[in-house]
Amino acid sequence: MTQDLSSNNSDTVYLKDYQSPAYAIEKTDLDVAIYPGESFVEARLQLVRQSGLVSELALDGEQLELLAIEINSQSLSKDQYRLDDGKLVLIEPPERFELYTKVRIQPEQNTSLEGLYRSRTIYCTQCEAEGFRKITYYLDRPDVMSDFTTRISAAKSECPILLANGNLVEQGDLTDGRHYAVWHDPHKKPCYLFALVAGDLSVMEDHFVTASGRNVDLKIYVEEKDLDKCDHAMASLKNAMRWDEEVYGREYDLDIFMIVAVDDFNMGAMENKGLNIFNTSCVLAKPETTTDAGFQRVEGVVAHEYFHNWSGNRVTCRDWFQLSLKEGFTVYRDAEFSADMGSPTVKRVEDVAMLRTHQFAEDAGPMAHPIRPASYMEISNFYTLTIYEKGAEVVRMLANLLGPELFRKGTDLYFERHDGQAVTTEDFVQALADVSGRDFSVFQRWYNQAGTPQLEVRDEYDENTREYTLHITQSTPATPECADKQPFHIPIAMGLLGDAGEIALKLRDEELEDLPTDNTHRVLELTEQAQSFVFTDVPEKPVPSLLRGFSAPVKLKFAYSRDDLVRLALRDSDGFNRYEACQRLALGVIEDALAADSGGELNNFTPDERLLAVYQQLLQEEGLDRAMLAYMLLLPSEGFIAEQQSVIDPIAIHRARGEVAGYIAKALHKPLLAVLENYDLRKPYKPTAVDIAARLLKNTALEFLMREPDQAVVDLCVKHLQQANNMTDELASLTALVNSRSPLAADIAPQKLADFYAKWQDESLVVNAWLALQARNANPGGVERVEALLAHPAFEANNPNKIRSVVGVFANANPVNFHGGTDADPEAGYRFLADQVIALDSKNPQIAARLITPLTRWRRYDKQRGGAMRGQLERIKHTPGLSSDSNEIVSKSL
Ligand code: PHE
Ligand code: ZN
Repeated sequence: MTQDLSSNNSDTVYLKDYQSPAYAIEKTDLDVAIYPGESFVEARLQLVRQSGLVSELALDGEQLELLAIEINSQSLSKDQYRLDDGKLVLIEPPERFELYTKVRIQPEQNTSLEGLYRSRTIYCTQCEAEGFRKITYYLDRPDVMSDFTTRISAAKSECPILLANGNLVEQGDLTDGRHYAVWHDPHKKPCYLFALVAGDLSVMEDHFVTASGRNVDLKIYVEEKDLDKCDHAMASLKNAMRWDEEVYGREYDLDIFMIVAVDDFNMGAMENKGLNIFNTSCVLAKPETTTDAGFQRVEGVVAHEYFHNWSGNRVTCRDWFQLSLKEGFTVYRDAEFSADMGSPTVKRVEDVAMLRTHQFAEDAGPMAHPIRPASYMEISNFYTLTIYEKGAEVVRMLANLLGPELFRKGTDLYFERHDGQAVTTEDFVQALADVSGRDFSVFQRWYNQAGTPQLEVRDEYDENTREYTLHITQSTPATPECADKQPFHIPIAMGLLGDAGEIALKLRDEELEDLPTDNTHRVLELTEQAQSFVFTDVPEKPVPSLLRGFSAPVKLKFAYSRDDLVRLALRDSDGFNRYEACQRLALGVIEDALAADSGGELNNFTPDERLLAVYQQLLQEEGLDRAMLAYMLLLPSEGFIAEQQSVIDPIAIHRARGEVAGYIAKALHKPLLAVLENYDLRKPYKPTAVDIAARLLKNTALEFLMREPDQAVVDLCVKHLQQANNMTDELASLTALVNSRSPLAADIAPQKLADFYAKWQDESLVVNAWLALQARNANPGGVERVEALLAHPAFEANNPNKIRSVVGVFANANPVNFHGGTDADPEAGYRFLADQVIALDSKNPQIAARLITPLTRWRRYDKQRGGAMRGQLERIKHTPGLSSDSNEIVSKSL
């Protein structure tokens, strides 16, 4: 009775077709028996009809072999059910009944990493979004919430640890060396939050006392070799638990909280109730093997999954169109948490850089979708930067519009009103509207319209009336789902900088007593297509500091002069806008270089001195956060520069940016070298904001200096590589060496790479970083290098982390090689990517589909490049048996 495994179901699902479930499943009793090569799942579901007569009830089920089926303990005859196309259809089911099914599944064969699968020696599950249907027949949709009991049995020697959601209620031995455990989760939940784990795991234990005094056991399960890498995750977890109590008033609600680390995982981690399952890359950390970015990622992801316990689990999504309800909100929550644990401005700069480079590109491409899409073909394709990061920006705007107290009131109301329910994004916004009395009807458009709004701001100063006016208009380019956009509600945080500092703000018609005490900062609310804001008593023509803190996810156009930008970079009170002014200044200079390049004049090009002057002053500024200094010195990435061009020429961008960077390195040689020499290589590693900042600045300086190094600089780089006491410094030195164009570096880089591998070959996560750094290497020969990496023994063809480190990094973070190809074949980079997608598609369609992204941007390039990219998309499209995941991406982008 095995079903068709390759059901290429390319039907589109629409939000407007939503119907509430015909049946509820009050109780779900699972018995999962794990044997080598096969597992058996028996399910007893208590179903209760929710509406009038139902002639047929379809349960979801994929890749299941049905062995037995009963209703109320009676076997079903052939006319009482049928199996078709991923469904088990019950014909004229009773109003209330117990459905018993027994199925056989094959976790060892499951390379999709969805459902029950095996990662190295560990059996684990991944059910979001629609993986539970690969475990048993079920109503696999988030608005069906059930009480779960899970019995797991397996060989005791192979799987001494047996875990599932909730509390352990029973365990014991069976015959034949087998044993079992029974878990019960007292909280009703949708099946996407179901999880079980079986394997030989070691555990790190701790505990947490909640605000109301309950004790919670905390357990992190890992392979024994990784037990020394759990401290940071555990500390982060406890910080997150405390923070959610303090900031949101949310306590944990079970007596045990477990995290399990597995090596094969499609995403970062998963918030299964009481049993989070993590990609090893997002939970394991120790100074010797993990970079600062890695430490921060662990902290952020541990917190993110923990925060889901309320924003996602207690209050969940009605349907998958509401995904951003839990993801946008939870990303906002984890970002604020990380900001509180470290430096808020630095965190903001990092997040905005990512958003503007990658989410804006998504919003401008063929897969653009609103944070609440109206349709999808394959929900796995909608775990996007738009749903997550833009979704978080939208929550951030709401939080800022309300202010901290009202926002907290609003989230309290939301959690209280909807506890135990599956709800929509409107419910979330409604709670915030109810506590504040604010009208969010225009604001709601952020949920339904895709695309990045563009603000055009023009200013005007009248010396006689001393009035200063900002004329602001907004427009949003057409996206696939909607050509004609209605105006968005856009909060614009701002101030005005005069010659002598910030100017007091008074809008025309505003009463003096209405003014806030700090009246140099204001939030203007744009709700129409065009509005003007008039400030009075403005003593001089100011420089406007607009969109402070990046107060809305928009593109801002204002004709800043370079002198304006210098003023903002050096003197604005808003840290984010100081960074932003540096970026704009640097972007302008790089665009000058691009123009010189296209005129064949790059050799004679000298950058605008004001950029250097700003950098020089920043390097001397006392009290400036070292991380902010590093980010202000960092030139915009090639990806960000590309986003700003009407037609992208990745090779020219690489050349122009490199030219400017080389010039800066030479001009600032002395102060940059001083940064390096003042750095204390022996200082014991701590992942604190201050220390992370010091390393970031030092490694930024190193990267600049290694562009055109003399022997002394190369020696210093090697010294840092050899004496580093942490992975951040070790990897940064190796990266600088490998990326350098200097023959002095090129002569020794291969040996240093080999040494690094020899030293770290048993640490899988370090090997990933080693692969990624080579995949990112912008020196000529990139395609040949990644091809060689695929053949390296360290590469594992089915492991998503390895695939991302080589293929994903090459296609997304090495534009000059990806688009440059080889001497023999300029399309070699595109062909390489398509080959990888095609090879992976039948094994792991989710990862395959994700890899396609860079090719979907073909319209942004010139005819020849774009055509070649498009050609590879066509090739993928015509692959026989292409997954619905890849099919959706390819067909929407052609
Ligand atoms: N819900 C997970 C998170 O954001 C992400 C995820 C989605 C993991 C789908 C696995 C599969 O925390
Ligand atoms: Zn999430």
